[in-house]
Amino acid sequence: MITNTKLETQNYDKVTVTPRFCYFTSKADNQSTLEREASYSLSRKRKFIHPKFFYDKTGSDLFEQICLLPEYYLTRTEMKILHDITNELPNYLKGNYALVELGSGSSTKTRKLLEALSSIQNQIEYYPIDISDILKDSSTSLHDEYDNLKITGIIDQYEPALEFIKHIDHQKKIIAFLGSSLGNFEPEQALEFLSSIHKCMQKNDLLLLGLDLVKDTKILEKAYNDSKGITAKFNLNLLSRINKELQASFDIKKFEHLAKFNKNQSRIEMYLRSKVNQEVYITSTGFSLKFKKDELISTEYSYKYDIPQIKEMAQKTGFNLQKMWTDKKNHFALALLSLREL
Ligand code: AVJ
Repeated sequence: MITNTKLETQNYDKVTVTPRFCYFTSKADNQSTLEREASYSLSRKRKFIHPKFFYDKTGSDLFEQICLLPEYYLTRTEMKILHDITNELPNYLKGNYALVELGSGSSTKTRKLLEALSSIQNQIEYYPIDISDILKDSSTSLHDEYDNLKITGIIDQYEPALEFIKHIDHQKKIIAFLGSSLGNFEPEQALEFLSSIHKCMQKNDLLLLGLDLVKDTKILEKAYNDSKGITAKFNLNLLSRINKELQASFDIKKFEHLAKFNKNQSRIEMYLRSKVNQEVYITSTGFSLKFKKDELISTEYSYKYDIPQIKEMAQKTGFNLQKMWTDKKNHFALALLSLREL
């Protein structure tokens, strides 16, 4: 087990739930982060809100609903690949591994990985990392289900959490970064982030990377424009969150969800479009924002990859591709990466 002195920095509060489950929560105040970042990003000429702000309680719940939608093939497809490789994955492991998961969310896919690890080891240390408080509930469920699990959660953004991961050096680890979450990064930042993950790893550690693949535009756009309007709610919830946390006056009915595939950039782009000319007040900052009719707030880019591109990213950031798995339709890819020996 990783020692507390290593982890208990002044930046985190530690909460011990049971002898097998504790979590660290960042002392950085979420509201002031939202206030600082949103007042900057909404005052730009091209307004934007960073997608990490989707995941308050309501947003996390809506995202879980998205994952179950028939149009949202990503989760289902990745789950199927994970299911199919549970017997094969242990062949790539050299001894016992701790499981680290970036963006663990509901920890549904985690169960497949735990199944794979359980076939070769008795005890498993699990380090879920997520920006959302959902981590507490999903870890509690896992804790109750598996008595061979020792869970250390980290509720924080990815970048500071990587500093944590560096300290997990007492045993080999497999880092799972699933759900095509890397797709939220611009290409250059994605490479930088993969390099930062690389810096946290030691010989025989592994990175399991799940990425969405380029496909027919209709299929892609449907996944982000579902018929039940859950994705629209998820997107609009950003404004409700700002209303709540920063005492703002967004009228949700005066904005609409927009998602389209930009083929040149190979990314889904999500926006909130102002339906009318309007002005919005943000009480906590004392600012007011003007919107023209049809003006857009950019809320998310979700990059879609092809296999050669994934190989190139791995190559450029110091990784060796151990194995690439895809589903039959080539909708989604799982890449298993190790450190390249120099
Ligand atoms: C969690 C970033 C992978 O881009 O597909 C789902 C988030 N946004 N529907 C994605 C999301 C709208 C999701 N990622």
